Amino acid sequence: MEGAALLPRSQLQHAIVCTLDEVQRTARQRGWLAAAEVLSRAQRGARTLPSAERRFFADALHQMVRGLRRLRYLSGLADPGASQLYLCWLLDTWLGDPQGPPAALRAQAEAAGLRVAEVAQRRAAVEPPIPIDRLGTALSYPDWLVRLLSAEHGPEVTEAILAAQNRRAPLTVRVNLLRGPREALQARLAEEGVVSRPGALAAGALVLDTRINVYGLAAFRQGWMELQDEGSQLIAELVAPPPGGLVVDACAGAGGKTLALGSLMGNRGRILSLDIDPRKLQELRRRARRAGLTNVQARCVPPAGPPVDLLRRGADRVLVDAPCSGLGVLRRNPEARWRLSPSDPVELAARQRAILAAYAPLVAPGGRLIYATCTILREENDAVVEDFLRHHPEFRMVPIKEILGGERAARLGDGERMRLLPLEEDGPDGFFAAVLRRT
Ligand SMILES: C[S@@+](CC[C@H](N)C(=O)[O-])C[C@H]1O[C@@H](n2cnc3c(N)ncnc32)[C@H](O)[C@@H]1O
Repeated sequence: MEGAALLPRSQLQHAIVCTLDEVQRTARQRGWLAAAEVLSRAQRGARTLPSAERRFFADALHQMVRGLRRLRYLSGLADPGASQLYLCWLLDTWLGDPQGPPAALRAQAEAAGLRVAEVAQRRAAVEPPIPIDRLGTALSYPDWLVRLLSAEHGPEVTEAILAAQNRRAPLTVRVNLLRGPREALQARLAEEGVVSRPGALAAGALVLDTRINVYGLAAFRQGWMELQDEGSQLIAELVAPPPGGLVVDACAGAGGKTLALGSLMGNRGRILSLDIDPRKLQELRRRARRAGLTNVQARCVPPAGPPVDLLRRGADRVLVDAPCSGLGVLRRNPEARWRLSPSDPVELAARQRAILAAYAPLVAPGGRLIYATCTILREENDAVVEDFLRHHPEFRMVPIKEILGGERAARLGDGERMRLLPLEEDGPDGFFAAVLRRT
């Protein structure tokens, strides 16, 4: 787990403990989706704190929610309370420091019923190299998830993925080409005191080296950029919208991919953004306005598929960015590992097959259907595409190397499909994409 570098003032510690308590209580009573809402609300409430404290508050809570299983184990208690978990989290970090925990923390922990020497012993038992059967405890994941991933990716890759997903994601933004090129955004950010460098994979990506509240920057408010992982940006590049073309974003949500497509299309052609959730589409419209996009139309659709009168002609591109288990973006959703259940991937794969089949008829002859997810399971990725191709002989795979070039495609998978694994702390989230052409 990442580190608590300092012992903060007691009011802040109190707020952290109270929030963790409420998150856990909500999770028990109303499930982890509701608990995630509590966490986001608390974080929004912390906006008034000085920036170092706000970051400590967010980091502490994210790391503790991710680390619940490990912290419970370290405590040695059957049912540790929020303050004991918090102290275990501090001890966990300090025990990795050559000087060990400060005397004040030791005293606080002992007074709360934790035996610091025993915490240290338990911690040593889950130090690397970690046997596969201890990975769930050591890195704080449910055992079913460790088993599922290691059956598919092997124990070493699984450990790397699970460790990386316990880290903070890099702060990556995408330039809005309607405002200017990436270099111009970089210069604007520098004027606001933000150091950035081009991303390694996506053509429009800048990675910010200055940790900052991006939403407060003038460059953000003026629509020059959006927060977006490089993997997600690459999906818009793979859609490769033709100039002046008609693009359907079938599962548009709050518009991450729509906005990236809009940036590539430069307000020429048309984007039809669909979703079953009207609140997400409202957010999409707001973001499209800020970006200066005038060719986006958002429309709410029924879960069964598009209404028959949706299009008068076939679309050049249909993107299905399907609902999925999100195993490629666990680091962004600290509670997700506790919320998911072993039956989710199977159920989601059935939904993904149905959505893909429902939107395929919108593709014009010669047009393309792009299937994408932010998960790393074959069942929700390649298996869905293969099932689709078996039932739709009028579609053929387009190797991604034909779109991005061999050198770039080789960094994203086998050159045929994009298979990004979230292995590296500074690397992209986990994403999958396949491009299919209607013959
Ligand atoms: C992975 S998210 C989309 C993320 C979005 N494309 C982005 O880049 O920000 C999947 C979306 O699919 C939507 N969805 C679920 N079932 C759907 C269906 N049957 N038809 C259309 N959208 C659906 C969900 O509401 C959710 O917003």
